[in-house]
Amino acid sequence: MSRDGFFKAGDRVQLTDPKGKLYTFTITPGKEWHTHKGWITHDDLIGLPEGSVVSTTAGLKFTAFIPLLSDFVLSMPRGATIVYPKDAAMIVGFADIYPGAHVLEAGVGSGALTLSLLRAVGDSGTVHSVERREDFAANARSNIETYFGVIPENWKLDVGSVQDQEFPKKFDRVILDMLAPWECIEMAAKVLRPGGVFLAYVATTTQLSATAEALKNDGHFTEPESSETIVRGWHHEGLAVRPQQRMIGHTGFLIQSRRMAPGVEVLARRRRPAKGAYGVPEE
Ligand SMILES: C[S@@+](CC[C@H](N)C(=O)[O-])C[C@H]1O[C@@H](n2cnc3c(N)ncnc32)[C@H](O)[C@@H]1O
Repeated sequence: MSRDGFFKAGDRVQLTDPKGKLYTFTITPGKEWHTHKGWITHDDLIGLPEGSVVSTTAGLKFTAFIPLLSDFVLSMPRGATIVYPKDAAMIVGFADIYPGAHVLEAGVGSGALTLSLLRAVGDSGTVHSVERREDFAANARSNIETYFGVIPENWKLDVGSVQDQEFPKKFDRVILDMLAPWECIEMAAKVLRPGGVFLAYVATTTQLSATAEALKNDGHFTEPESSETIVRGWHHEGLAVRPQQRMIGHTGFLIQSRRMAPGVEVLARRRRPAKGAYGVPEE
């Protein structure tokens, strides 16, 4: 996906009006993009540098860029709830998704996280995605094809439950975004290489607790670590510099852990669990 900063046929273009409203389409020779006040001919965009200001026949002005991955993801058709860009960025960082990594991902949903994973592993890595629902898989496939222009050769998509699949090779990373990741811990232990990273994205504290306990009970994983990412935008106009009034509130939690060496027991925790952490003991 190399870019030279100039629009060509087949590129996605994102037009922003002076109020910040976004419009996206694919540049197709011979086509026109119509507004309530005139139109823009797609051919007029071809050859322009990104960051140009274009005008409709009636004088409406727009700034033109190729969308960033985060812009694309927020505007693409959704089957299931997506992983928001702030969480996708943390997943790529915390799970240490590196160029050349072999990643197993489930579920795929709308394919938002898949896009970040594919970008992070690069051409030398692979992403093997598994999605239970055929309709969601089809939507994700279409989003990924629209984003890359083709279906990447290093991406495999299977339909089914990830814990029911057979994987001939080990993975470096297992990334889960689904209702019940705790049902997939045994599978993750089986398919991860020693030192491999397990990471799950969950929406609620009850899912977080069930996943943490399943990781601890499995015996093949290090003590899990969890976090939540809260991003607050800022408004700046002269001296009026303050947090934006609107923000994305809760999205989800990340929980991650690493695969121990085969046959090696996890070192017992030194800390005693807090009183009542596992319920009230029976008299
Ligand atoms: C919240 S969506 C995933 C969203 C996706 N990460 C994205 O960014 O677009 C959760 C998906 O997991 C799928 N799913 C749930 N359990 C699964 C399993 N055991 N194996 C495969 N897919 C599963 C669901 O069908 C659903 O599409």
